[in-house]
Amino acid sequence: MTIRHFLDLADIDAATLRQILEHAGKLKADRARGKQPPLLQSKKLAMIFEKNSTRTRVSFEVAMVELSGHALCFNGSDLQLGRGETIADTARVLSRYVDAIMLRCQGHDKLQELAAHASVPVINGLTEFSHPCQIMADILTFEEHCGPIKGKTIAWVGDGNNVAQSLIQAAALFGFTLKLACPPQLNPLPEVLAWAKARGGRVEVMESPQSAVKGADAVVTDTWVSMGDPDAEAQIRMLLPYQVNSELMALAAPQAIFLHCLPAHRGEEVTAEVIDGPQSRVFDEAENRLHVQKAILSWCLSH
Ligand code: CP
Ligand code: NVA
Repeated sequence: MTIRHFLDLADIDAATLRQILEHAGKLKADRARGKQPPLLQSKKLAMIFEKNSTRTRVSFEVAMVELSGHALCFNGSDLQLGRGETIADTARVLSRYVDAIMLRCQGHDKLQELAAHASVPVINGLTEFSHPCQIMADILTFEEHCGPIKGKTIAWVGDGNNVAQSLIQAAALFGFTLKLACPPQLNPLPEVLAWAKARGGRVEVMESPQSAVKGADAVVTDTWVSMGDPDAEAQIRMLLPYQVNSELMALAAPQAIFLHCLPAHRGEEVTAEVIDGPQSRVFDEAENRLHVQKAILSWCLSH
């Protein structure tokens, strides 16, 4: 039986991702009515964080508790992993105790190695390459406010980072147009763009934030310096013209929403006026991590 890992959107077919989103919407509605189905009764999730986290950590933990399961959370340095025990042995050992493992780390290959040696599902809680759980929550949020994402136009402004790369994969899988404005030195990886284009994805990378945002249904950005980025100062200098402010938002469609995975830096990648303004949906987006996490866990563990 194949193990249902959730490592990258690109590994999962569009119909399955759509089912996960539908389930997330249903679980959200259930929760609003005070209903918490015990879908993960007696299931245990181990979470390993080699980088900081607020949303991912808390939403996964609450998701497990609300579905009647249990979550165990570790910093990478708490485990023997931090003293040189191999990823492969960690995977084999944890697989004997828990039903799923979530990893946030630097080095996407580490995540892949964990999955290769685990006999339980492994979930990507963010690597420098991708952040698939985040983009599932973004799509749920977009569709709640703007209707089906298929055929719509999303603008990404800023660093072509892990979140942008998952968004590129999503564009091909969910059928939306994605215009990314990035400084050329910070473009997404060519192989990610090639993957999306080979699947008919309408993904365009450009330098001008104004061109990317023009007429877009949503404007999305992220921090200028991601966890693990080596040269913050140089990166910030390149990104200065990429701030999402009211002038830039004014170029988007009149009903456009603003999304940001958070944590945000007001006055850098986005102004307070935009992130705290009427077009911003960032706290719905953060909440939706919880509902999506539940649906992802249910999918991984219902096999
Ligand atoms: N968006 C997101 O993944 O937030 P955390 O880093 O707080 O988990
Ligand atoms: N791109 C950011 C996302 C944080 C949730 C980072 O990797 O630090």
